[in-house]
Amino acid sequence: MIEIKALTKQFKTLTAVDHLTVTVNEGDIFGFIGPNGAGKTTTIKMLATLLKPTEGYAEIAGYNILTQVDDVKRVIGYMPDFFGVYDDMKVWEYLDFFAAAYKIERARRKQIIDDVLELTDLSVKKEDYVEALSRGMKQRLCLAKTLVHDPKVLLLDEPASGLDPRARIELRELLKELRRMGKTILISSHILTELSDFCNTIGIIEQGRLRTSGEIETIKKELSLKRLVEVEVKSDPDRAHDALQERPEVHSIAMDGNRLLVEVALDCEDTSFIFETLVAKGCKVVGVQEKEMNLEDIFMTITEGKVQ
Ligand SMILES: Nc1ncnc2c1ncn2[C@@H]1O[C@H](COP(=O)(O)OP(=O)(O)OP(=O)(O)O)[C@@H](O)[C@H]1O
Ligand SMILES: [Mg+2]
Repeated sequence: MIEIKALTKQFKTLTAVDHLTVTVNEGDIFGFIGPNGAGKTTTIKMLATLLKPTEGYAEIAGYNILTQVDDVKRVIGYMPDFFGVYDDMKVWEYLDFFAAAYKIERARRKQIIDDVLELTDLSVKKEDYVEALSRGMKQRLCLAKTLVHDPKVLLLDEPASGLDPRARIELRELLKELRRMGKTILISSHILTELSDFCNTIGIIEQGRLRTSGEIETIKKELSLKRLVEVEVKSDPDRAHDALQERPEVHSIAMDGNRLLVEVALDCEDTSFIFETLVAKGCKVVGVQEKEMNLEDIFMTITEGKVQ
């Protein structure tokens, strides 16, 4: 649904986006992850046809962002990272304004506005002025705005920034709902854990270049160069250490009080030997747990903290 081909943006001497190539399939929720200044906003603006690429191109729902601008605009809903100011406009007027801009007939607009307000949980604010909304509500209104023309593809630039925990959770639920509705979503963030439970694919960008992309699970596998198992014993951690040290599957052991962090061979399918070995040597085991790599770990493994 989104096909990005060697997309590049040069600002004078700075290459903000450097030959980015990414495919997002229909119905995917693609998490576009990168540190500040990585090139996320620049990429999204090019996809939204608001910024002209220096090189490369992209297709959205089959339309070229360089040559079929009007078609692209029709199929996308773009939520910018900053909310513009609209004085003296009521919530419904704001949405009506955008619906009109998308050439939706007056007769259909009322129903559409009610629907998107309901979806974003803003129905009670319909007659309020936009400037009187809280930040989280403005954010949701901004998302409501991107939905008025029922786009297939959503480009959301850090929609959760500045939201309190409750608002973040609500936003997450809303995004899940949009996924159920069959939308294809590209969402940027530098807060990784926020994306992990609803994105099925991710791309990590740093200094304008794509470091890795694909299904979260596959990336985790590729990157988990280490497999770590955390062991806690009731007492005598040295005995546990010596017992595990003898096992060929064990590469290294780090000690922290009664806790041991055991690195096992990647090809070791079954780590139950750890528990068995310890028990056989008379160690009292409190717990054995494999440490799962989360998005945060993936991010730290891939990015080197370089800022342009
Ligand atoms: N209009 C511009 N002119 C010159 N340089 C720009 C312009 N817009 C962005 N840049 C530079 O391009 C790089 C990428 O910026 P971009 O806003 O795309 O990053 P980002 O990944 O969205 O970061 P953040 O997480 O902070 O939003 C930065 O180094 C930025 O300074
Ligand atoms: Mg940005």
